[in-house]
Amino acid sequence: MSVSEPLLSACRGIVGDRHVVTDRERLEPFGHDETPGLAPVLPDAVVRPGSAAEVSLLLQACSALDVPVTPRGGGTGHSGGCVAINGGIVLAFDRMQRILDLSPDDLTIDVEPGVVLKDLHAAVEERGLFYPPDPGSLDSCTLGGNVAENAGGPRALRYGVTRDYVLGLDVVLPSGERLRIGKRTVKGVSGYDLTSLIVGSEGTLAVITGITLKLIPRPRSVSTALVTFDSAARAAAAISALFSHGILPRTLEYMDGRSIDAVRPTAPFRFPENIDAALIVETDGDDAEATLAQLARAVEILDQAGARSTLIAQDARQQRDLWTSRRGLTEATRKIRRIKIAEDIAVPRRRIPEALARVAELGERFGVLTAAYGHAGDGNLHVQILFDDEAQRPAVELLLHEVMALAIELGGTLSGEHGIGIAKKKFMPLEHSAGALDLMRRVKQAFDPAGILNPGKIF
Ligand code: MLT
Ligand code: ZN
Repeated sequence: MSVSEPLLSACRGIVGDRHVVTDRERLEPFGHDETPGLAPVLPDAVVRPGSAAEVSLLLQACSALDVPVTPRGGGTGHSGGCVAINGGIVLAFDRMQRILDLSPDDLTIDVEPGVVLKDLHAAVEERGLFYPPDPGSLDSCTLGGNVAENAGGPRALRYGVTRDYVLGLDVVLPSGERLRIGKRTVKGVSGYDLTSLIVGSEGTLAVITGITLKLIPRPRSVSTALVTFDSAARAAAAISALFSHGILPRTLEYMDGRSIDAVRPTAPFRFPENIDAALIVETDGDDAEATLAQLARAVEILDQAGARSTLIAQDARQQRDLWTSRRGLTEATRKIRRIKIAEDIAVPRRRIPEALARVAELGERFGVLTAAYGHAGDGNLHVQILFDDEAQRPAVELLLHEVMALAIELGGTLSGEHGIGIAKKKFMPLEHSAGALDLMRRVKQAFDPAGILNPGKIF
């Protein structure tokens, strides 16, 4: 145990007795995130600060004693980023859940890091505004976690990812120093962009205690279709056809037949039988007719490129059911085999047909079942590696390495949106040169010279 009794009593003095958790049973949920197959590691204590001032005092106390601190949002990550692998203290933000200021005039919102994404969506949409990032865990993930991981989601295709909406941040450095960085304006080019550096830094550089986000007007109309295909190759070719016609829907989600079959029994949406692949295409705008016409044009192109059938959602409920079913893939694909490893590669979108074909070939070569779904419009594929028997582990490890190497060979990246955390750090040299990795380490050193903040992640 790296957390001594005097440190625990200092923490209790800062946040109050009942906000320091040390009993094993209550620590258990904090020992993991949603990364399949990651061995749980319990922190020594969970501390629940109620303000930035308390975060600062906690970091001062921990840095004086060299105790690791791991910030944690909703615990919905897919790379182990919020798991305290070296023990120490986990900071939980469920007491910092306030929406501080929503300004329709400035099109900004200020929030604390513990605000749950769906609550933010509801608050801004009620005012006719829109915050597009929509990771699959939107019912329980928090804005602090979204910023730390630079969360994406289906709507990133048209609207971009979390980084595109973060204007400024209140942060606490590992030393306890409090800083305001960034801006409240959409434009701004003064100095290095520290805000963008912290977004996606996986809680390794600073603890986020306040977030200023950019908003946009809410599109009043949304049209959604499920387009099915007889093969993954046809679906992949159709995706390319759509882009070459200059059409950019707000989502273009890919699901293969194996993934659809896995979710079918629990899905509220009734998928047609015997599908080998499907795309969810969604368009939006202010004019309902124009939005539907844009969807019809997209569907026509997909049809010409070899689609089998199209189902246009008839009402908001059918749209909701389709998206609930899509979000159900994460859990449903866990049940295909006893063990699942979920990857998150992204490739330039014109390489998607090749990526899908070669991942399937690799699965066959190594005798391991694979499935794939994801944000095809962004070239971001969640490749699932599925197996029953630990004896297959060596083949799985080889396959995994090949999948990562393939992403890089095709001009892509190891992770489109789930981050590196602990799950993918061994692959970092495939993507980044020794010089670039060294520069990243020196950045970490500048923020956190003692290395107490979320140690063991990324590198
Ligand atoms: C998704 O797209 O559903 C999420 O990124 C989670 C997952 O990969 O299953
Ligand atoms: Zn995803």
